[in-house]
Amino acid sequence: MQRLAGKVAIVTGAAQGIGATLARGLAAEGAKIVIADVTDGAGTAQDIVRDNGSAIYVKTDVASPDEVQAMVDRTVAEFGTVDILLNNAAIFAKLGNKKFQDISSAEFDAVMAVNVRGPFECAKAVSPIMIARGAGKIINISSGTVFKGVPNLLHYVSSKGAIVAMTRCLARELGEHNINVNAIAPGLTMSDGVLNQSDWTETYIEANKNSRAFKRRQVPGDLLGTVVFLSSGDSDFMTGQTLVVDGGNVMH
Ligand SMILES: NC(=O)c1ccc[n+]([C@@H]2O[C@H](COP(=O)([O-])OP(=O)(O)OC[C@H]3O[C@@H](n4cnc5c(N)ncnc54)[C@H](O)[C@@H]3O)[C@@H](O)[C@H]2O)c1
Repeated sequence: MQRLAGKVAIVTGAAQGIGATLARGLAAEGAKIVIADVTDGAGTAQDIVRDNGSAIYVKTDVASPDEVQAMVDRTVAEFGTVDILLNNAAIFAKLGNKKFQDISSAEFDAVMAVNVRGPFECAKAVSPIMIARGAGKIINISSGTVFKGVPNLLHYVSSKGAIVAMTRCLARELGEHNINVNAIAPGLTMSDGVLNQSDWTETYIEANKNSRAFKRRQVPGDLLGTVVFLSSGDSDFMTGQTLVVDGGNVMH
């Protein structure tokens, strides 16, 4: 039985990587998918349609409130409503590693605009629809780096720490409307972005793997079960939480 039959899910940053895998997985559970990405996500949408699902790609910069509102309007025009918002888009792998003194103010602001303000803009735009229906699921992608204080990525790790805080604030404000807001903190995951990033050497990836309870590399599909759970009625009495999904690396 499909657990999300008929639900409408917006997945940001689903042109590639973790977002693309999660969009396909939510579609396999019966959800209609909107892929919101600055990069062309038509391929992900075509994969879903080819597998008898429903999906559209809407070019969206999550840091633009106008583009986010237009994307949500298009979602409603196409599929009637929004049940699930998966805030996955972020600037991550392309940042590479650098000491915090070498991060420019402009790069710091650019990371915050996409990684923190982006999920805020998306939550803000879907909230009237979810409030009117008295139901909704918002899932924010944070990162295990928050709990480890991983060095040489200060802007990124700080942005993902803000996501944990934002998840709690949204959960408190939207609770009276029966809207669940939770976060997932993945470990180092072999997404397209990570696989194309040369700063993370084999040695680094192996060391990360060996610091897990389950000693293997994490792949995007490892996050799907948790995302489906947080999208479904099984998590209806759970909100404001951050679930670490990393094979037992960070334990908090
Ligand atoms: N891969 C990991 O190791 C890892 C670990 C923890 C958390 N995460 C988080 O998981 C999520 C996905 O990461 P990934 O590794 O798949 O990344 P990725 O770089 O492979 O994909 C990111 C996607 O986000 C899109 N995007 C970037 N800026 C955008 C914007 N302004 N508006 C709309 N879309 C935008 C990109 O075009 C891309 O399709 C991110 O939130 C990341 O921080 C990743």
